[in-house]
Amino acid sequence: MPPKTPDRKSPKIEIQSASVSSAKPPLIDPGSLLSSNDLTIDELRSILELADRLENEDPTQRDKRLFKRRVSLLFYESSTRTRTSFELAAKALGADTSLVSAQSSSIEKGESLKDTGITLRSLGAECIILRSPYSGAPYLLAETTGLPVLNAGDGMHEHPSQALLDLRTILRHLNAGSKVTEKTLADVTITICGDIFHSRVARSNALLLPRLGARVILCGPLPLLPETAAQLAPGIVIERDFDRALAQSDIVMMLRIQAERLAGLALDLEEYKGRYQANTARIAAQAPRALIMHPGPIIRGLEVTSEVADGPQSAIAQQVRNGVAIRMALIMRALASNGLHDVRPGKNGRR
Ligand code: NCD
Repeated sequence: MPPKTPDRKSPKIEIQSASVSSAKPPLIDPGSLLSSNDLTIDELRSILELADRLENEDPTQRDKRLFKRRVSLLFYESSTRTRTSFELAAKALGADTSLVSAQSSSIEKGESLKDTGITLRSLGAECIILRSPYSGAPYLLAETTGLPVLNAGDGMHEHPSQALLDLRTILRHLNAGSKVTEKTLADVTITICGDIFHSRVARSNALLLPRLGARVILCGPLPLLPETAAQLAPGIVIERDFDRALAQSDIVMMLRIQAERLAGLALDLEEYKGRYQANTARIAAQAPRALIMHPGPIIRGLEVTSEVADGPQSAIAQQVRNGVAIRMALIMRALASNGLHDVRPGKNGRR
């Protein structure tokens, strides 16, 4: 088969250039996404609109967008949906992907994050997608390599692409379109329930959603939800009674109880289920119209029952699907940012 050549007739895709006014330090490539706070509302809108356009594009045109560009996935922690959807997103744009996971690489021999990043760059990586158990690791990698880095979850810190796909799921449920402003979620109450303390998903959502006007209720027992969490952003309140939180909610995000991070915490799981489990009776009584979300992985029968997870109010499958669209947009933005490459097929991008 002859090598694919870029189609010069493909429609131009506009990307809001990553803003220099964002909170990222100057050494970090502006195509990086390390925290959901990095994004201005204009950038958010641009990413959501780009996700829409890429999702609707003819796949045989779309896979010329980043033809043969090199995207590395560096995963120090287990992952199913985040890793697969980043990989599918990169491939849908025609990029070459390579996966490095801790168990099968020189990381196991003690190679540092810095050296691993430099090695990937030497091998031609143009963007690194990083999942790490260490909060802040993506900042170090971005500074060391100078490459755009997409944070696919760092310790207990952030998971910004998850917050963006959650936002896309919410907007579509509300038929709100992608032209977000500071007021888009002004009449919307979103409860995030469960292990808030350990959750990078909760943090990224709690930082993002109030900026679009949402009222965010954090719900859970004290060991999993310290009082200080209310200070994450204006517009956040704490409600310990799940039934009271549900009764006010349009959207409910359930979180996994993270067994791997529970050591030393006094948590009675049976009591937890009684107070915080999303089950049919509770949802029917308190929130019969609310959208039920969960970033996965789900522990069925603990934070959520199968009936609710698979029921008509559940958006869990949509969340997973929205992950691919959002991650295509983030990879496009990352590779457009370094100034060397024009993302328009047929222009001066490396092929
Ligand atoms: C989460 C994660 O890894 O942060 N899952 C995900 O990426 N969709 C949540 C979790 O581990 O519970």
